[in-house]
Amino acid sequence: MKHSMFIALVFSFVAGPAALADDAARWEAENPVKPLPKPPLGIDSSFDELKVPPTPERVRLGRWLFFDKRLSADGSVSCATCHRPEYAFSEPTPVSEGIKGQKGTRKAPSFLNQAWTIYPNFFWDGRAGSLEEQALGPIENPIEMGNTHHAMISTLQGLTGYHKYFDEAFGTPEVTKERVAQAIADYERTRMSGNSAYDKWQEARFADDYKPTDETKLIEKGFELFNGKAQCNQCHLGQNFTDSLFHNLGIGWNAEKNELADIGRFKISNKEEDKGAFKTPGLRDVSKHAPYMHDGSVKTLRETVEHYNKGGNANPWLSPKIKKLELTDDEIDAIVAFMKSLDGEGYMDRAPEHYPE
Ligand code: HEC
Ligand code: HEC
Repeated sequence: MKHSMFIALVFSFVAGPAALADDAARWEAENPVKPLPKPPLGIDSSFDELKVPPTPERVRLGRWLFFDKRLSADGSVSCATCHRPEYAFSEPTPVSEGIKGQKGTRKAPSFLNQAWTIYPNFFWDGRAGSLEEQALGPIENPIEMGNTHHAMISTLQGLTGYHKYFDEAFGTPEVTKERVAQAIADYERTRMSGNSAYDKWQEARFADDYKPTDETKLIEKGFELFNGKAQCNQCHLGQNFTDSLFHNLGIGWNAEKNELADIGRFKISNKEEDKGAFKTPGLRDVSKHAPYMHDGSVKTLRETVEHYNKGGNANPWLSPKIKKLELTDDEIDAIVAFMKSLDGEGYMDRAPEHYPE
């Protein structure tokens, strides 16, 4: 054996594990195991209510996976490419752009506070029944991440730095698609929003020393209209302001051609009344991710209220709950102000700089 080769061999033997420990320390410094966050003011739910509550170790692993572009076919797209933290995990464009610049036909919804839903319906058409099931969809979607689960798993198996964290989260280092999905879903469950101006007003309004301000008076007026004259709460209800059910508002209806651009829920349920129906989105932090609706066709919050005010877009399947509202300009302003008061905190994050290799 040549002398230099011998040195190299000894060196790799000595430096190998030490270098790996250094790397792991660097990865972990940016993404430590943290206790599960507490639901903020306004979110009256607890992780203990869940059948399988998240664990800190799975959340740590899921955070890397959520931001890791190597889950896509060519390493260019991660979940966070479309679900961007600064836009409440939605995006500022009408539809998503995935691998190789391909455009989809629907907008990436926000998933704040989705640990607790009234019904377990995910995607605009409800085709996934859990966050776990949902997470595997985009990886194999040819327009989004363009990968196969098989190729994604072999990539992760090749990134041996990850094995330690699968072990920590699941008890063995094995990488499976079910584990990837569960870790990502647990990370998503910790993305909660609350403690908004609305939540603070709700907490304060019945106290003896409560003094309304101009701001809280406007929130109150908007809230009363939302639940009263405008009847928004027929569908936007609960702490996340959604029934998690499907309704047709006439979005995407082409009156000249007499057709819907997207059949929506019908594709899953095959029920006539579900044509052009989409899932009611939650309204937490809604001001952060215009444009709105499943196709991003409505530009501002004011325009969304105007859409309801005129009674939606008439079409054969329009929800019977949608009727002309006769709201005045001031009333529309108040409803918009109420929706803006739902901007909260607790979910902010940014991509780690280093990932297990
Ligand atoms: C190319 C953009 C893109 C990428 C990448 C992407 N998504 Fe999405 N996501 C979307 C779009 C668009 C929808 C809505 C699609 C639909 O409803 O048909 C969606 C829907 C969702 C929903 C449903 C939310 C709800 O309220 O129903 C969740 C959760 C979600 N994505 C999480 C993820 C995760 C986790 C990843 C990574 C594994 C990911 N997404 C990757 C664009 C993307
Ligand atoms: C019949 C049920 C129903 C009623 C009533 C209703 N909504 Fe909606 N809302 C929905 C559905 C369903 C969507 C998504 C529709 C789509 O994309 O095709 C939606 C979308 C929205 C959006 C866009 C959010 C996003 O992330 O894109 C806002 C804002 C909104 N509604 C506010 C209101 C307000 C304000 C009222 C009362 C004036 C109201 N809604 C009444 C069901 C309803």
